[in-house]
Amino acid sequence: MSDGGGQVLPYELVGGEGGLRRIVDRFYAIMDQNAEAASIRAMHGADLGPIREKLFEFLSGWLGGPPLYSQRTGSICITEAHRPFAIGAAERDQWMACMRQALVDCGVSPEVRAMLDEPLFRICDFLRNRD
Ligand code: HEM
Repeated sequence: MSDGGGQVLPYELVGGEGGLRRIVDRFYAIMDQNAEAASIRAMHGADLGPIREKLFEFLSGWLGGPPLYSQRTGSICITEAHRPFAIGAAERDQWMACMRQALVDCGVSPEVRAMLDEPLFRICDFLRNRD
């Protein structure tokens, strides 16, 4: 599928809805199991189900697929949602490590991973509210 301009959407490159759901599930499973991500895991509720759905919805639109998060919330601004949490370089790097591993585990190609890495890092760094 393309966006009409002859370009394949990143959403398709990660496997569409099914692929993206697998990535998000894997991302939170890694966060849940990996001791190195313990401090960001602790910021989340015991039940990761709701946040799994929200991140899936957000990334769906961000990758050029259905804009599920903005349709539901009327916004794509996630800064406010992160303000209550102390996010510094360590937390940013933990988030990125979980996501990089999830993308590898879900078989996303090195080219697509390289394409997503910098923009994902930029969002994480933007959400940082301390050193
Ligand atoms: C920088 C590291 C990050 C940390 C430590 C972090 C942590 C969190 C936490 C603790 C929550 C609340 C979870 C809950 O309600 O149980 C949250 C919500 C959320 N995060 Fe992050 N996050 C980070 C980066 C990101 C990035 C890069 C994205 C998007 C690509 C993202 C997307 C979201 C979304 C969509 C929500 C739900 C917001 C809502 O309530 O509508 N986060 N995050």
